[in-house]
Amino acid sequence: MKPCDPIGVFDSGLGGLTVAAQIRKELPNETVLYFGDSARNPYGEKPREVVETYSMEIVEAFARQHVKAVVIACNTATSAAAPLLREHFDFDIIGMEPALKVAADLKTPSIIAVWATNLTLHQEKFERLKNRFQSGHEIIRVPCPGLVRLVEEDRLDDLEAVDAALRDYLAQSRNAEFIVLGCTHFLFFKQRLQQLAGPNVKIVDGNEGTVRHLKHLLEEKHLLNPDSSHREDRLQIDNSDPSQIDLSWKLVHRMEETYE
Ligand code: DGL
Repeated sequence: MKPCDPIGVFDSGLGGLTVAAQIRKELPNETVLYFGDSARNPYGEKPREVVETYSMEIVEAFARQHVKAVVIACNTATSAAAPLLREHFDFDIIGMEPALKVAADLKTPSIIAVWATNLTLHQEKFERLKNRFQSGHEIIRVPCPGLVRLVEEDRLDDLEAVDAALRDYLAQSRNAEFIVLGCTHFLFFKQRLQQLAGPNVKIVDGNEGTVRHLKHLLEEKHLLNPDSSHREDRLQIDNSDPSQIDLSWKLVHRMEETYE
């Protein structure tokens, strides 16, 4: 493995682009090969074994492209497939999980709503995570498949549909003081959600922490790329549904605007 090798990043579709954008911001020298599996989206409504098989196929393709690390930019694929992927490949596999710890550390006791996919919320991994923080906290599970669809269908500007979906999931979150965004697709709604939820609700996500962890692992292994040339060409986007590639770029730029 060499510092100039690429990093593979994948998701069930377009949600992981929020992570790819964060990598581009924090680690601009790194070449990122992004793969979105929009043709088979959503993963969150499929059996665990199916998501495991899809994830394996994707990471095998990354291995053929000589990646130095893979980021599973998908909480669902992480809970379904991370252990198997780690057994099979010798590069680092960085997964994501709902950032429950971040919320729980901010205030005890508290009411925390975790917004994620059905699969994430009903896996053993989530059960274990929840048990770690159960004492002192009320944890509410809120599956939000509608938000994944709005992103994949390019409907982020359909404000009526976006607000209706967000209000519905907010109602299911009852009196939550924290909302944990446990699905990478949901990051696109963060600002609007904050407006609707009001200043007393804190919204937490795992993107920054994931990229910090990636940076730390690469640093430790002396695998950070020192070459700062061609930074603007360092993100490559592929998708199992090629008609989603233009939308993918639009979404990356949309995320980047939120950093400005
Ligand atoms: N973006 C994915 C996640 O972080 C899931 C979306 C899906 O259901 O495919 O969990």
